[in-house]
Amino acid sequence: MMTIALSKGRIFEETLPLLAVAGIVPAENPEQSRKLIIGTNRKEVRLVIVRASDVPTYVQYGAADIGIAGKDILLEHGGVGLYQPLDLAIAKCRMSVAVPEGFDYAAAVKRGARLRVATKYLNTAREHFAAKGVHVDLIKLYGSMELAPLVGLADAIVDLVSSGATLRANHLLEVEEIMQISSRLVVNQAALKMKRDRLQPLIDAFAGAIIGAIS
Ligand code: PRP
Repeated sequence: MMTIALSKGRIFEETLPLLAVAGIVPAENPEQSRKLIIGTNRKEVRLVIVRASDVPTYVQYGAADIGIAGKDILLEHGGVGLYQPLDLAIAKCRMSVAVPEGFDYAAAVKRGARLRVATKYLNTAREHFAAKGVHVDLIKLYGSMELAPLVGLADAIVDLVSSGATLRANHLLEVEEIMQISSRLVVNQAALKMKRDRLQPLIDAFAGAIIGAIS
């Protein structure tokens, strides 16, 4: 059996064409069924549907052989025990610093102010501000980061930005891009050794699909 860990939403939707290139078609859409284990047209391949931030954990412990996770998630996880052979160039967005309209971020940084920053991405945010020499108190949140500056919980946020619609709807401005984000293939290192005959063709098919998409 080969088990692939995926999260619902954008990653699942954008992974479907890659799976198709590898000859794998899920039997159900997890958005519709509430099932967490989904069979495919190939009886030796199954999908497990997990929270995006849990994908690296399932693969690290070998509960899934392979998975797809955003760079944002992998940086927070640390990548222990994971082989990361491919940037799949899907679910692209960026991680940025945003502040309320009217907050002069550049001036606050220049005068050495201590900023309260709300984020789900503590490690990435800590490294970013340390490299810039900006003093911050980080506040861990699990979602809806955009709310924090609006109700006085934080001066700024570090979050993912895609279309920018969520920032605009909440009168926040993107003031600094930290990095570009996309999803990567992650493989359990022990599984790769033991099941290479099954995993390598999948990795190769994904690699071919990316090259096909770029050219
Ligand atoms: C992400 C992110 C922003 C939003 C950005 O949240 O945290 O809130 O998308 O997208 P936009 O720039 O196109 O508006 P998501 O909806 O994935 O939910 P999450 O907070 O559970 O990650």
